[in-house]
Amino acid sequence: DIFAVIMAGGIGSRFWPVSKTIYPKQFLDIFGTGKTLIQTTFDRFKAIIPEENIFIVTHESHLELLKEQLPQVADERILSEPIMRNTAPCIAYACHKIKNLNPDATIVVSPSDHLILDEANFHEAIKKGIDAAAKEDRLITLGIRPSRPDTGYGYIQYIDGSPKTELKKVKTFTEKPNLEIAKTFIQSGDFLWNAGIFIWSANAIIQALHAHVEELNDIFSDGAHYLNSDKEKQFIALAYQRCPNISIDFAVMEKAENVYVLPVTFGWSDLGTWGSVYDLAEKDFSGNLAIPKDNVMFYDTSNCMVSAEKDKLVVLQGVNDMIVVESEDVLLIIPRDQEKNIKQILTDVKSKH
Ligand code: GDD
Ligand code: MG
Repeated sequence: DIFAVIMAGGIGSRFWPVSKTIYPKQFLDIFGTGKTLIQTTFDRFKAIIPEENIFIVTHESHLELLKEQLPQVADERILSEPIMRNTAPCIAYACHKIKNLNPDATIVVSPSDHLILDEANFHEAIKKGIDAAAKEDRLITLGIRPSRPDTGYGYIQYIDGSPKTELKKVKTFTEKPNLEIAKTFIQSGDFLWNAGIFIWSANAIIQALHAHVEELNDIFSDGAHYLNSDKEKQFIALAYQRCPNISIDFAVMEKAENVYVLPVTFGWSDLGTWGSVYDLAEKDFSGNLAIPKDNVMFYDTSNCMVSAEKDKLVVLQGVNDMIVVESEDVLLIIPRDQEKNIKQILTDVKSKH
């Protein structure tokens, strides 16, 4: 059977001040469409994977928010993490749990906070990946054609020869390289960005975890009999204390030999920054974007982006190229081309408040 695991335990610090620890990006309706990113992600999978096979992993502090936004997901399909340990433990937990339910499972693992514009193409790619993952022990990831030397992504170098849209064997996987290296990757041309959407059989990922992060894998394979039992919660509370803090990209994808990439084009963005939202969303004729639409008035203003609280009116007069983000307790005003400083600002704010 086919399963999906939606990872929803991250924070997304670059979306400050709207995305804070208590309200991470996946629980926000960034585009003002009436649906949050995690609701959209769930619906996208629901169209091709039976609802009762979709699992969501999140930190226990977000359980309430998750249940509010996705009331249709039964408790036994919500995996609650007591400590944030990045994506490798999250994936180890979910994949062992699913294997325990169905040893022949094929699993799609996905972030909860991405934008995908072309759903039909997305579904087609996922189906292709599922077929390829079910046949052989492969670790499949989806690859995006890169547009700039961004250091926030994994870079995949593939062995060419096959047609552009077919599954390719991966030669190297480099998670978050420094800027210099990212630049050489972009120049060389045969690299793709890792979309962070993985497809594999339960067997293949567990073998890979065993081979490359044995200590982590042992925790869940030794305790596999607790999963799906009434002792699961107790077991997980102790198990997570022993888990290393590491992403699946560093733990497995950089090291495994059986990694494959499926190049995809489905209008993807990981919405890593306000700028990426601005670039993708529909703007008015002066290049202004308001989220939500009705809360902002622009006069003699161009190329600005405003995110406002539901019941607050924001007015801009004679302003250009600015990001304005108004949240309950913070007001941020920053030129669009200086957005990269938000990370540092956030660090300073945290140390002061
Ligand atoms: N349950 C759970 N627990 N989910 C987590 C955790 C955790 O501890 N940490 C992160 N997540 C979720 C996030 O909410 C997000 O949906 C997804 O896992 C990916 O985590 P990020 O923290 O956003 O990863 P990243 O963006 O730095 O890097 C990954 O994604 C890039 C593409 O967006 C990597 O896979 C890169 O290689 C990739 O290019
Ligand atoms: Mg991300």
